[in-house]
Amino acid sequence: MSRKNFIAGNWKMNTTADQARALAQEVVAVVGQVDDVDVAVCPPYTNLATVAEVIKGSNVKLGAQDVHWEPKGAFTGKVSCDMLKNVGVTYVIVGHSEQRSYFGETDETVNKKTKAVLAADLLPIVCVGETLEERKSGSMDKVIDRQVRGAFDGISAQDAEKCTIAYEPVWAIGTGETASPEQANQAHVFIRKIVSELFGEQISNIIRIQYGGSMKPDNAKALLAQSDVDGGLIGGAALKAGDFAGIVQPK
Ligand code: 13P
Repeated sequence: MSRKNFIAGNWKMNTTADQARALAQEVVAVVGQVDDVDVAVCPPYTNLATVAEVIKGSNVKLGAQDVHWEPKGAFTGKVSCDMLKNVGVTYVIVGHSEQRSYFGETDETVNKKTKAVLAADLLPIVCVGETLEERKSGSMDKVIDRQVRGAFDGISAQDAEKCTIAYEPVWAIGTGETASPEQANQAHVFIRKIVSELFGEQISNIIRIQYGGSMKPDNAKALLAQSDVDGGLIGGAALKAGDFAGIVQPK
């Protein structure tokens, strides 16, 4: 089964509007015409409209880093799917480990967000991954199983097919420590098996699973060569267009 690789840059809480415009221009210059890999950038909310303008006409798509599940109303500080869609967003990251660990994200809120994103005809990137403690204590499989089943609870196979899953081991995020290609692939195979149990083998073969956690130009090739690694969700290295390009098209 060949799946088209999908590389997304998660800019996290980095870039002012001016910096975002400049970075997006550089990204378009280096990977804007790539068509054998899907490419997206996910700037902070305040820079979505700015980046949308810059990437127009290129193959780079726009993603948001989070969303609220309610359509509108008295939810101070939150942003809805319609608001994202209206500024040109295609993808929405949900359940990032930083949301889970710092901002009270639960499997239940990940599920609500995933459903809202799908209902708005946007494409979710659902993040899962174990902490170092969970890996060391042997509860990694249980945690990932819970996160995947929780995120997809009540979602149809037809909708599940539109989702990307990002496997981001928490211990590898921003630490410079990367899962080995074998470790990553093992987790991806495990995740695909859960998806297969939930939605059948055909859907599980379609869904792309990105790896995230200190992915860089020098380790991207080996990670992407694995059978079940279908791209990357890139943090730090996405803030330099040259490094990002080196992951989109690794040498
Ligand atoms: P780093 O690439 O900085 O480790 O971040 C990974 C990540 O969290 C992407 O969402």
